[in-house]
Amino acid sequence: MTDDVDRNRRHFLTVATAVTGGVGIALASIPFLVSLRPSARAQALGAPVEVPLASLEPGEMVRVIWRGRLVFVLRRSQAMLSNLEQTPPDLLRDPNSEVAEQQHEFAVNPYRSIQPEYLVIEGNCTHLGCAPLPEFQVGPAPDWHGGFFCPCHGSRFDLAGRVYKGVPAPTNLRVPPYRFIQDDVIMIGSEAGAA
Ligand code: FES
Repeated sequence: MTDDVDRNRRHFLTVATAVTGGVGIALASIPFLVSLRPSARAQALGAPVEVPLASLEPGEMVRVIWRGRLVFVLRRSQAMLSNLEQTPPDLLRDPNSEVAEQQHEFAVNPYRSIQPEYLVIEGNCTHLGCAPLPEFQVGPAPDWHGGFFCPCHGSRFDLAGRVYKGVPAPTNLRVPPYRFIQDDVIMIGSEAGAA
């Protein structure tokens, strides 16, 4: 594992979620891969989850559990956005997000997000459901501009969760419904689906 990867992993935070009434609120960040799930009742209810973004630095990511599913919230840095724009579309299976069930209309754009800076995607590989790992560094392969790598069978996704060709995963990582309820707070699972 390179220093770059280690640094990326240190940025890979996990949030614990708690539920009050019908709305879950991401309360605290915990380093590395410790994850607390909301109660079984809250999962059954599918409560929306509020995620504050103010403490996220560029390049940092938090993990959130929503409806029992893992969701990644990544604040992409300017370098990440630049790297994303350099990913050749012909290397990707669905570069224009044409598989409709993988995202709502609001995410049919090159960033697959409401705001380019913030990526919100489900953290379950579309092959058999493993959790892809953040591999945000560029290279060493010439076609790798940073993204997510699924260690189970080698699927690769770019910094917008778009799947590469020639890997087992058939589709891009799914974008869940979410919207901004404040400038720096999103709600995942809102029926509105978009801002
Ligand atoms: S589960 Fe991700 S590649 Fe198979």
